Amino acid sequence: MTRLTRADLDALPAYVPGRNVADLARELGIAEAVKLASNEVPFGPLPGVAEAIAEAVTQSHRYPDMGVLALRAKLAERLGVDPGRIVTGGGSVALAEHLAKATCLPGDEILYSWRSFEAYPIIATGVGASSIRVPNTPEHGHDLRAMADAVTDRTRLAIVCNPNNPTGTSVRRDELDRFLDAVPDDTLVVLDEAYREFVTDDEVPDGLATYGDRPNVVILRTLSKAWGLAGLRVGYLVAQPAVAAAIRKVLTPFSTSMVAQAAALAALDAEPEVVRRCAVVIAERDRVTAELRKLGADVPTSQANFVWLPLADRSAAFAAACEKRGVIVRPFQGDGVRVTIGTPEENDTFLEAAGEAL
Ligand SMILES: Cc1ncc(COP(=O)(O)O)c(C=O)c1O
Repeated sequence: MTRLTRADLDALPAYVPGRNVADLARELGIAEAVKLASNEVPFGPLPGVAEAIAEAVTQSHRYPDMGVLALRAKLAERLGVDPGRIVTGGGSVALAEHLAKATCLPGDEILYSWRSFEAYPIIATGVGASSIRVPNTPEHGHDLRAMADAVTDRTRLAIVCNPNNPTGTSVRRDELDRFLDAVPDDTLVVLDEAYREFVTDDEVPDGLATYGDRPNVVILRTLSKAWGLAGLRVGYLVAQPAVAAAIRKVLTPFSTSMVAQAAALAALDAEPEVVRRCAVVIAERDRVTAELRKLGADVPTSQANFVWLPLADRSAAFAAACEKRGVIVRPFQGDGVRVTIGTPEENDTFLEAAGEAL
């Protein structure tokens, strides 16, 4: 048969989304499952967001502002940077794709720690780049020394996921300083900070405040998690102006939708509520971690809105046992299980299921 698509895609694992409440209803007849599988924040849209969406929708026959001027201006003011340094996109995962497109030609290398965010290998293959994966430390975090050693003259992009999805671990200032000093000037380093709002360890640096002035550093953030807009797809990056301009050239035109722009503007006005919600998530994260450790699980300290159970070949069975008890978690075959922090009640339901499953 004539081959119409790239042969190398056959070997690429598909992105596996967290299973849904509807999946459990269909397969197990459980009507009201608790979903702790996709690192969402469970409290609904922020105040003002639904109204902003309703208003924006009245203009949905028009294209959105392609320059995303109002949102970029608001982000710029909040972050204390020039708007020209900001690029928005349909989720930060889309921006990671654009970064790869803007830096890599076939045969170039994208370096990252593994296990980390499962989109990275897909993004690398998408542009014909080789994935260079440096294994996590035994404590499930990035091995930045080994990553620095793995940089070659083909490394165009090095990604540091901080905190790391799915293990929740984070890298600290001194090791990140050393890493950034070691990486050559012509390798772009992406600090993927999708979970920055949940960080409480003072030694885990805010990438933008600490490294934003370095010419080869890009900070990737999202409004999907703490800001509650996962369903609308809006993320942003901050880069030096020339890098931002290059990324803008490969953006899908109009990819930050009109509704996403309006919702993001409204969400950014609700920062005190975001801070309050994050405090609840953080307290619950620490409680869930302590309870799981009491059950004997070797849970690494998380700085994100999820925790990691390194259950190796028991992962799939643990996730299936949780599902039978109406809780959807996210297994990574043969490696571990990631559990998103939900409401206190949802977490109690999970802890009960975990107590039985472990
Ligand atoms: C580390 C990391 N980066 C980026 C993303 C993408 O988020 P979004 O595309 O919703 O902005 C995620 C989502 O799970 C993530 O875990």
